[in-house]
Amino acid sequence: MSYNKIMNEKRVTILDIQKKKEMGEPISMVTAYDFPTAQLVDAAGIDMILVGDSLGMVVLGYDSTVPVTMEEMLHHCRAAARGTKRAFLVGDMPFMSYQADVAEAVRNAGRLMKEGGADCVKLEGGRERSKTIAAIVDAGIPVQGHIGLTPQSTAKLGGYRVQGKTAAAVSKLVDDALALQDAGCFSIVLEAMPEAAASRVTERLDIPTIGIGAGGGCDGQVLVFHDMLGIHDMRLPRFVKQYSNLRETIIEALEIYNQEVKSRAFPAEEHTYPMKPEEEALLLDDEEQH
Ligand code: KIV
Repeated sequence: MSYNKIMNEKRVTILDIQKKKEMGEPISMVTAYDFPTAQLVDAAGIDMILVGDSLGMVVLGYDSTVPVTMEEMLHHCRAAARGTKRAFLVGDMPFMSYQADVAEAVRNAGRLMKEGGADCVKLEGGRERSKTIAAIVDAGIPVQGHIGLTPQSTAKLGGYRVQGKTAAAVSKLVDDALALQDAGCFSIVLEAMPEAAASRVTERLDIPTIGIGAGGGCDGQVLVFHDMLGIHDMRLPRFVKQYSNLRETIIEALEIYNQEVKSRAFPAEEHTYPMKPEEEALLLDDEEQH
C-alpha cells in the first residue's frame, strides 16, 4: 500500500479498535518515539503507535524504565504525534506520574493528551489502579491498561519474570483485567505470560487485549520498534521476532562513509555545488594578486 494512500485514510479511533475485537480482526501496535519513526510505522498501516516508556532503555540508554520523566515522555510524544497521520497514538505514563495521587494522575494524563498530542494514555497495574483509571476516563481521556509483567514494578516482582504461570495467578490476572475493564479501560496490554493465561483473560473481556510475549490468543500484538528491527545489540526476550537487522545495515553504511571520507572518494562531483567557470577564474585572479 502506498504512503499517499495511507495518508488519505481516516484516522484510527477508539471505536475502530473496539470494532476489531467484535469482528475478530487482529490489532497491530508498534512503539515509536520520534517523528521519522512514527512516519514509518504509520506508513506501514499499523493500527496503534505506542510512545512507550521503553524509550528509556532503547533511546535514552537507561537500564530500566524507572528513571523516565514526564518531560521526557512529553518531548518524545510530541515528536511522534507530528509524524502520525493515521494510527491511534498511545502515550505511556512514566513511573510515579500516576501512582501517588489520583488528581496528579489526571493532570499528567491530560498533559500527555494536551501537550503531547496522544489520543489516549497507558498505565501499568491491576485493580489497585481502578480509582485512578476511572478518574482519568471521567476527564475524557481513554486509558489502556497494562498487566502481567509490568516493567515499572520489576523491583516488586523480583525482576523481569513471566507472570500467570499457575492457575491461581491466572485467576488473579482475570480479576485484575475485569477490574480495569469496569474502571473504563478501552483495551489492556498483557505482557509476558503463557499463551493459555492470556487467552483466558482475553476470552473473559469485552475490550481488546494487546499481547507482548503473551502468545497468539490475544486480540492484538505489540513489539518494540528497536527490538523487532534489530537496531540495538541488547539481549532480546524470547518473544521478540526480529524482522530485520538494521544495526548491521546501518553500521555497514557508516563504515563505507568513513572509508570514503578518509580516501577522499566522498564527496564526488555529483555531491558538490558547481560554480560558473568565469567566476572560478576570478577566484584564481584574486589568488594571484595576493
Ligand atoms: O513501554 C513499552 O514499550 C511498553 C510495551 C512493552 C507494551 O509498555
